[in-house]
Amino acid sequence: MGRSLVKWLLWGLIVLVHLHGHRGCFEEERMGLLEIKEEFVRSTPNETIQESIKYFLPSGVCHLSGGHILPSWVDDHKSECCEWERVTCNSTTGHVTHLSLHNIWEFDIESDFYFYYPFYFEDMVWFLNVSLFESFKELRSLDLSFNAIGGWIEHKGSESLLRLNKLESLDLDCNIFNRSIIHSLRLLTSLKSLNLSYNALEGSLPTKELSVFEDLEILDLRNNWLNGSETVQGRDIEKP
Ligand SMILES: *[C@@H]1O[C@H](CO)[C@@H](O)[C@H](O)[C@H]1NC(C)=O
Ligand SMILES: *[C@@H]1O[C@H](CO)[C@@H](O)[C@H](O)[C@H]1NC(C)=O
Ligand SMILES: *[C@@H]1O[C@H](CO)[C@@H](O)[C@H](O)[C@H]1NC(C)=O
Ligand SMILES: *[C@@H]1O[C@H](CO)[C@@H](O)[C@H](O)[C@H]1NC(C)=O
Ligand SMILES: *[C@@H]1O[C@H](CO)[C@@H](O)[C@H](O)[C@H]1NC(C)=O
Ligand SMILES: *[C@@H]1O[C@H](CO)[C@@H](O)[C@H](O)[C@H]1NC(C)=O
Repeated sequence: MGRSLVKWLLWGLIVLVHLHGHRGCFEEERMGLLEIKEEFVRSTPNETIQESIKYFLPSGVCHLSGGHILPSWVDDHKSECCEWERVTCNSTTGHVTHLSLHNIWEFDIESDFYFYYPFYFEDMVWFLNVSLFESFKELRSLDLSFNAIGGWIEHKGSESLLRLNKLESLDLDCNIFNRSIIHSLRLLTSLKSLNLSYNALEGSLPTKELSVFEDLEILDLRNNWLNGSETVQGRDIEKP
């Protein structure tokens, strides 16, 4: 009698947990987000660079927030990482699905300025460690635009490549990637949309490297240093 009551109570508990969906973010993803924050904090332009950028910016305004970026991302177990700014989770599974890390230092500039005067940003160029995104197996979209990223840090061997099986949308616009970035993305075969506009891709259109992205529907390569007039069959290539 007592046993079956306990059994029913347990069943009830399981049903309740299911009805409420997943509560609290996954520890692996919480740690992953904190590592990403640490990487951005470490890469914040120092005072000298900030001063020179302020001087050159057309509006003279620049709110580089130093260590105060991503204030809601705190290392506290009571803090629910799905509610952090720039993070979206699937409410059923609790996994992080969207990361919007656009313009993390909140530069008050236009993308055109970025394109025509890239040398102002040369001193700030930094290299992002792609292994930082390994924990986010359910990620659908990743926006890293406007962050003065010069390239990925990759370790030797393919395991270091960005490997996100569900990623559909990747925004890398307004950075300083060169054409080697396209080869580095080759495992992201589920991509439907890739924005590489306002970067430093040079030479002929990288049609061969692009052919691995079979599901690609949107590809923006505007404002790079690409030449040539090859076409990629069945794709909309936005290029001037
Ligand atoms: C600021 O960073 C630049 C580029 O990394 C470096 O050359 C410069 O020495 C740094 N200045 C200070 C004051 O740390
Ligand atoms: C959340 O995940 C579930 C299970 O994988 C899926 O059916 C649902 O469409 C997802 N919701 C959104 C908003 O993506
Ligand atoms: C890159 O990130 C991974 C995972 O956090 C870490 O193990 C590795 O040491 C990092 N590499 C560099 C060069 O910082
Ligand atoms: C392109 O960027 C990578 C770093 O991501 C660098 O190793 C390589 O030398 C660059 N290539 C050119 C032609 O600048
Ligand atoms: C790609 O990024 C640029 C610069 O941020 C933006 O103007 C453009 O609309 C984006 N392209 C697409 C197809 O969304
Ligand atoms: C494109 O640029 C590359 C490198 O700058 C050059 O070697 C090539 O001849 C150019 N092709 C065309 C069609 O202009």
